[in-house]
Amino acid sequence: MHNIFFFTAFALPLLTFAAPTTYPRSSIRRLPRQSTNITSPPCDLSTLRQPPNTLPPPSSDETLLLVALGLGTQNYTCTSATTPPTQIGAVATLYDASCTLASSGSENAQNSIYETTDPIGTHYFTDSTTPVFDIQALGGNTVVKRADSMTAPGAQGKNVPWLLLARTEASESKARKVYRVETVGGVAPASCEGVEAGTVLTVGYEAQYWFYG
Ligand SMILES: *[C@@H]1O[C@H](CO)[C@@H](O)[C@H](O)[C@H]1NC(C)=O
Ligand SMILES: *[C@@H]1O[C@H](CO)[C@@H](O)[C@H](O)[C@H]1NC(C)=O
Repeated sequence: MHNIFFFTAFALPLLTFAAPTTYPRSSIRRLPRQSTNITSPPCDLSTLRQPPNTLPPPSSDETLLLVALGLGTQNYTCTSATTPPTQIGAVATLYDASCTLASSGSENAQNSIYETTDPIGTHYFTDSTTPVFDIQALGGNTVVKRADSMTAPGAQGKNVPWLLLARTEASESKARKVYRVETVGGVAPASCEGVEAGTVLTVGYEAQYWFYG
């Protein structure tokens, strides 16, 4: 009896997580677990380098504080059949990828991070152009604005752009810049044809967020 219960409640979700895919899995519910405190970079990030990109690099006095994995949705809405969808925000759960990346140096470690670590924060928008990262380990909210962007390399058109996000006055955290890289999915449908005005379209995505301060 006990064994059957265990298999149903725990083993099935674990099998699902073990699938070797990097597609957004925001629909998968995680079992709640106790959160842990992170007070400083839990491992040496000094040798970690961003994936090659054409965004302006961090300044020489800025250091890498944390790499978070975001798993969630990019949200869009339609106003009419003839206007393309417009972005109205995003929602994502953030996981700490710092140590895994520092030790493996590979973005392919993403799956194991979802399986083995607890969320460290959330990403959301306060209005359609104001992204926020709520990560207590960085000292509170990081409120940013888009400073630069580039087309995601490879699989063109399938993944949302890579971004440089710069902190605004409203920020509480010590992070000054956030890079969104290694994006998967999140791209709006090409048109609003057949979509009722006012409908919110949510498109699953993953990304790495590199925080510098
Ligand atoms: C996290 O830190 C706070 C404040 O230092 C402390 O009260 C709390 O017990 C800690 N939680 C864990 C899970 O260690
Ligand atoms: C975006 O979609 C998520 C569902 O993934 C929802 O929880 C959130 O409220 C939406 N946000 C906006 C601004 O529409």
